[in-house]
Amino acid sequence: MLNFDFYNPTRIAFGKGKVAEIDKLVPAEARVLIVYGGTSAKKNGTLDEVKAALGGRYAEEFSGIEPNPTYETLMKAVSKIKANKLDYLLAVGGGSVIDGTKFVAAAVYAEGDPWEILLQRGANVKQAMPYGTVLTLPATGSEMNDGSVISRTETASGLHDKLYFTSEHVFPQFSVLDPSKSYTLPPRQLANGVVDAYTHIMEQYLTYPVEARVQDRFAEGLLQTLIEVGPKVLANPQDYDTQANFMWVATLALNGLIGSGVPSDWSTHMIGHEITALHGLDHAQTLAIILPTMLSVRRESKRAKLLQYAERVWHISEGSEDARIEAAIQNTRAFFESLSVPTRLSAYNIGADAIPALLAQLESHGMAKLGEHEDVTLDKSREVLEASI
Ligand code: NZQ
Ligand code: ZN
Repeated sequence: MLNFDFYNPTRIAFGKGKVAEIDKLVPAEARVLIVYGGTSAKKNGTLDEVKAALGGRYAEEFSGIEPNPTYETLMKAVSKIKANKLDYLLAVGGGSVIDGTKFVAAAVYAEGDPWEILLQRGANVKQAMPYGTVLTLPATGSEMNDGSVISRTETASGLHDKLYFTSEHVFPQFSVLDPSKSYTLPPRQLANGVVDAYTHIMEQYLTYPVEARVQDRFAEGLLQTLIEVGPKVLANPQDYDTQANFMWVATLALNGLIGSGVPSDWSTHMIGHEITALHGLDHAQTLAIILPTMLSVRRESKRAKLLQYAERVWHISEGSEDARIEAAIQNTRAFFESLSVPTRLSAYNIGADAIPALLAQLESHGMAKLGEHEDVTLDKSREVLEASI
C-alpha cells in the first residue's frame, strides 16, 4: 500500500427529513447566500424547505449556476457577497452548483485574478468562506470532497477551458443527503450519475496492484452496488432505498477513502473535460465514451487489475486471460449503453475531424502525461480518441 494522508472534515446528515437540520448546522448569526441552478430546486420544493429551515437568518439567493458552471456566472455571485456582506454559503443542487460554490467560496478571498485559482490548481487558495450543501443529484461526490471543476468561455487564449482545482479549504462543512430529493431527476441525469460514480471508482481502482486489499474490496463493492441499483433507479426513481444506496455510493466513490494509498489514473476524466469544453457533452457522456476504450487501449499496463475486475466484479473466471479482459471491458460498455448513455463519439455526431482540436486542448492544459504511469501521452490520447469514434 502507498503512503497516504486521509483528511475529510465534511459532516454528512443522511436521510429523509434531514433538510430541517440545517437550522442546527448553519451558525445562528450567519448572513447566508443560497446558491442554486436553474428551476429544479424551486419546482420540487427543496428550496422552500431550505428557506424554512434557515428560519429567521438573513438570507439572499443566487440562481442560474449552469451545468458545467462558468467563471463568468460565478463572479457575479462573488460581487453579490461582497456588496451585501454575506458570510455563509448554502449550495442546493448537483455537482455543478456545489463546484460553483467552492469556487465562489475561494474567489471571495482571492488576491489578484481569481482565475489563477484554476491555473494554479488551487495551490494559491489560502482561505475560503464556510459553506454547506443540500445534494439533489448523486453523481460527482463534490458534496464530500475538496475538488471543483469550472469552465470559462472567454479566455485570453480564445480556448474554452474546463479546469479543476482542489484545496482543503473548500471541503463543505456539512452536506445534507436526503435521497428523496432525487426523486424528480430525469432519466438522463440519473444515468449520468451512475456513469460518473462508476468511472470515479474505476479511475482509482483500475490501475495496478499495490496490495491495498481494503481499498480494492471497497471499490469492488461500490461497483457491484452501482451495477445493481443503476437499472433500478432508472426504473423506479421514487424508491427510497434504491435512491439511498445510489446516493451513498456516489458520495463514497469520491470522498478520498477508496483513493487513499493507491495509484490513480484520471486520464478518462481529463480527456472527457476537453470534450465537454469543445462540444458541450454532459460530463458523464464523455466518460462513457472514453473509459471503455481507455481500458482497451491500455490493457497491457492494466492487465493484473483488469483480470481482478473481471473476476470479482463481473464474475468472469472462464476462458483465457485475454478473453476475460475483453469480456470485462465489453460488459462495462454494455452497462453504460443499458442505461441509455451512448459510448461512441459518433453517437453524439463527433467525428475524426474533431480529434486534432481536442489534442491541442490537452496540450495547452499540460495534459500530455496522464495516467497512473504518466504514459498517456498525446499520441496515446489520439489512439484512444480514434478508437472511440
Ligand atoms: O439547474 P437545475 O434546474 O437545478 O437542473 C439540474 C441540471 O440541469 C438538474 N437537477 C439537479 N438536481 C435535480 C435536477 N433535476 C431534477 N431534480 C433534481 N433533484 O440536473 C442537471 C445537471 O446538474 P449538474 O449539477 O450539472 O450535474 P452533476 O451533478 O452531474 O454535475 C456535473 C458537474 O460536476 C463536475 C463535472 O465536470 C460537471 O461540471 N464534476 C465535479 C467533480 C468534483 N467536484 O469532485 C468530479 C466529477 O468528476 C465532475 O468532473
Ligand atoms: Zn466525474
